Amino acid sequence: PLVTTTEMFKKAYEGGYAIGAFNVNNMEIVQGITEAASEEHAPVILQVSAGARKYARHAYLVKLVEAALMENDIPIALHLDHGADFDICKACIDGGFSSVMIDGSHHSFEDNIALTKKVVDYAHAHGVVVEGELGRLAGIEDAVNVSAEDASYTKPSEVEEFVTKTGVDSLAIAIGTSHGAFKFKPGQKPQLRFDILEEVSQRLPGFPIVLHGASSVNQEYVEMINKYGGEMPDAIGIPEEMLRQAARMAVCKINIDSDVRLAMTAAIRKHIVENPGHFDPRQYLSPARDAVKDLVKHKIVQVLGCSQKA
Ligand code: G3H
Ligand code: 13P
Ligand code: ZN
Ligand code: NA
Repeated sequence: PLVTTTEMFKKAYEGGYAIGAFNVNNMEIVQGITEAASEEHAPVILQVSAGARKYARHAYLVKLVEAALMENDIPIALHLDHGADFDICKACIDGGFSSVMIDGSHHSFEDNIALTKKVVDYAHAHGVVVEGELGRLAGIEDAVNVSAEDASYTKPSEVEEFVTKTGVDSLAIAIGTSHGAFKFKPGQKPQLRFDILEEVSQRLPGFPIVLHGASSVNQEYVEMINKYGGEMPDAIGIPEEMLRQAARMAVCKINIDSDVRLAMTAAIRKHIVENPGHFDPRQYLSPARDAVKDLVKHKIVQVLGCSQKA
């Protein structure tokens, strides 16, 4: 059966590593991720956004993850990414997820607390865990496009009250990461506010912290995309060393979506260009699935540190 993230996060916190939370939309992505995690004996979180749920539909995603559970003997959590309101969280709690995020970060502090608490009460009554968020990331958070000016770092002075009053199981914070493949302007030096992470963890001893917008946008994939007809100039992400540092600290969950998209797109573009006669989707989706698997293995071993932790 699916597991919640409780045990995963406890071990990750104590062991100074993080669990990968990868966004899933289709069979190839689910297979690529879970085969990689299985071969590395790593626990893994599969997460579904509102957009993914709309694209693939709830039942298909749940059944794909159930199939992955049948084939792989590792802890797998199924998580709602960026739940915008109580109703989508309830639908996922009732519909078989083991974890949900309620993203109240664009509301006032008081409204965020009230909304998050409502979700926590319902989730906990059903054995499901909840991730909340304080602070705003720049970039695209689902439908809401948060401009750099509207982005704001998490205020450490708010975290104890938020966690105590809501009862959340984990907390996403904003320390300079952002969603998407264009995280910094060209020439801008990537920086994260590790001082904020440190202060948050001192105020919440032992409490699992989540990092969104944490793709590294490996230039290997960007170059492949551009070489085979794509146009993604100046795509740039979070350096891996910064993620390793975060994983050694209180960060127990690192969210990765863009890197999976880039790996798949690079593999598909290359295949299509090199094999102009191919028209069977399995011919280009196989290398795409392999690319997801290679990427996830790299993350598990080189970035997250969760290999052999299942
Ligand atoms: O945080 C956003 C995730 O990358 C999901 O993106 O809403 O396009 O599925 P999406
Ligand atoms: P990236 O766009 O950096 O992969 O972030 C994904 C994410 O935070 C999903 O919630
Ligand atoms: Zn996110
Ligand atoms: Na950690």
